[in-house]
Amino acid sequence: MSVLCYFYAQRGASLTRIPSWLMQHLVLCAFVMAVARGQVRYSIPEEMTKGSLVGNIVQDLGLDVKRLKSGRARIFTEDSREYIGLNVDKGTLVVKERIDREELCAQVSPCSLHFQIILENPMELHRIDVEILDINDNAPVFTRREIQFQISESATPGAKFSLDNAHDSDVGFNTLQKYTLYPPDHFSLKEQMGNDGLKYVEMVLQKTLDRENQEEHKLILTAFDGGSPQKSGTIKISVLVIDANDNAPVFSLPVYRVSLLENSPKGTGVVSVTATDKDKGTNAELRYSFSQTSGKALDLFNIDSESGDITVNGDLDFERTKHFQLHVEATDKGGLTDSSKVIIELIDVNDNAPIISLISFSNPIPEDAAPETVIAMLNVKDMDSGRNGQVKCSIAPNLPFKIQSSALNFYSVTTDQLLDREKMSEYNITITAIDEGSPSFSTNKTLTLKISDVNDNAPMFQRQSYTAYVMENNLPGVSVLSVTAHDKDAGNNARISYFLEDILVNGVSASTFISVNAESGEILAVRSFDYEQTKEFNIRVKAQDGGNPPLSSNVSVKITIQDQNDNAPQVLYPVQSGASVVAEIVPRSADVGYLVTKVVAVDVDSGQNAWLSYKLQKATDRALFEVGLQNGEIRTVRQVTDKDAVKQRLTVVVEDNGKPSQFRFSLSCLSSPYCQSNATDGDASGCFTNLERIFQLFRIIRLFTQT
Ligand SMILES: *[C@@H]1O[C@H](CO)[C@@H](O)[C@H](O)[C@H]1NC(C)=O
Repeated sequence: MSVLCYFYAQRGASLTRIPSWLMQHLVLCAFVMAVARGQVRYSIPEEMTKGSLVGNIVQDLGLDVKRLKSGRARIFTEDSREYIGLNVDKGTLVVKERIDREELCAQVSPCSLHFQIILENPMELHRIDVEILDINDNAPVFTRREIQFQISESATPGAKFSLDNAHDSDVGFNTLQKYTLYPPDHFSLKEQMGNDGLKYVEMVLQKTLDRENQEEHKLILTAFDGGSPQKSGTIKISVLVIDANDNAPVFSLPVYRVSLLENSPKGTGVVSVTATDKDKGTNAELRYSFSQTSGKALDLFNIDSESGDITVNGDLDFERTKHFQLHVEATDKGGLTDSSKVIIELIDVNDNAPIISLISFSNPIPEDAAPETVIAMLNVKDMDSGRNGQVKCSIAPNLPFKIQSSALNFYSVTTDQLLDREKMSEYNITITAIDEGSPSFSTNKTLTLKISDVNDNAPMFQRQSYTAYVMENNLPGVSVLSVTAHDKDAGNNARISYFLEDILVNGVSASTFISVNAESGEILAVRSFDYEQTKEFNIRVKAQDGGNPPLSSNVSVKITIQDQNDNAPQVLYPVQSGASVVAEIVPRSADVGYLVTKVVAVDVDSGQNAWLSYKLQKATDRALFEVGLQNGEIRTVRQVTDKDAVKQRLTVVVEDNGKPSQFRFSLSCLSSPYCQSNATDGDASGCFTNLERIFQLFRIIRLFTQT
């Protein structure tokens, strides 16, 4: 009994750590010592070598060794297997077969072998209990080498994942005591006692997983028993983090700024926006779109939902909109989005020509407008901007106008010099507005400016002076001359009236001679002129225009009266008296060429009309006398003889040279009292008076013959 109790006392040295199953033994031990003889208990560790002593039953049962022999002591077990043998000679129990507690009892504890020692003569039965004590001969073992988990990164802390249990065939301290998990950064362990008394172990997520940071976690679960030395077993835990759509797409830039030429055709690439998503698979598949807040820009641009390429999809007109702001969104399949902005600055293209607007236009302007007179005000616009919208205005050269900028985009066209309607009555002023784009655009505008007349020109006669020739004996009212003046002005300013200036001619008013037709400028004779009275005179004609005030000019007109052969020569000598004819005496001794007398005649006409010639028309003896054709001298042609008649009668014709010879004059020698004559031949042969020895000259009769 002492061995038994010693054993228990040893175990009880650290009583506070004694688990409950041992306490039962202690209670049993007390019981064993209290029970009657014939029953004994032993404890031995498992796996003792064969022959090892289990206990001395002679002592413990208080038997004599001889009695063992005599009583043919032997062991009786109910099952056939005998782990313990009896040494009858020594009265001891020894290990007969290897005892594996785990094989014998598995997890049942305490594990005992029960058998009887049977003695005969007399028969005794002694019950022996041998408790097989566990030794730590098994390590905890996991059935699998590795556990694999796929855990979403969206799993929240506190999520539990059950792990494999380890198994340790030992019992008590020697069996599984605890687990550890390493590394401890994301998971912790939780052990739980199941209803079956087994420990279950779980892995609890402590800290969210981030696939994007670490996609796989490798842990080691270690199971420890409580034996000494301690044994352990491990299992690998692999945690594959499954992507959750925990990352929104992120655009590469918060704002994309691009410049784009206006009028870029449809399809022109603008910019490519890109976003990235740290997630995986569909969670990282992005679609690009415009957000509705982009407004009207939505119609003008297109975005490829796959590539993020933004292209032109409408007409971009810098003049309407200079920049656009597009809001783009990138959305992953999980619905997470990011947004960014695309700011598109349009670049102006010179696609607009300048526009010239006429604000005011003074048309016509009078020709006397002073230089710098404003004719027109213009506004010039160009819808483009920058150099493309900077406009210069000019006027076609060689025009008396200039263009000046009066204010930004405002121009005035003014006269640059004096104008003269009479030189140029209309101008086409072409104004050119050209912008500074490259290539540039230009616009022309033509103003047709009329110059209105001012009465700045006096009428001008065609000649500086006029001479009119008028035949004397004219009929009153006959037209003498037409004067014409011109006036460079227009309209009333050029409407000319003609007037006779009231000056004195030969002491009387000019109007008694001449009148002027106010409209036609025709000069008329008021009376019949007599050359022999007035050979010429001057008048002044005024031409006056209809301007207000009127302008006028004068011209002098010399009226020259032309002689007509309206006077017959007049014979001054010999004096013609009605009664007698002067007789000339010619001495008988007169030589040839003797100047008998000279017929002297005058003609009040002039020129040819007064150029007289003398001819002998009739003579008593034509051979005796001759008359000087030009001088009218009557001379003898031959010696006078006694045979010649005493009286010689001569008729001399004095004739002027008027042409046509409208007049002819005869000179006749008449006898008293009267000498007839006729118009045609001037035959006055019956009219001679008696002459004594001398010639008589005869009265000149003027004969008028109208041819
Ligand atoms: C002005 O232009 C018009 C129309 O082309 C033309 O008929 C006219 O003769 C021009 N005038 C001048 C003064 O050039």
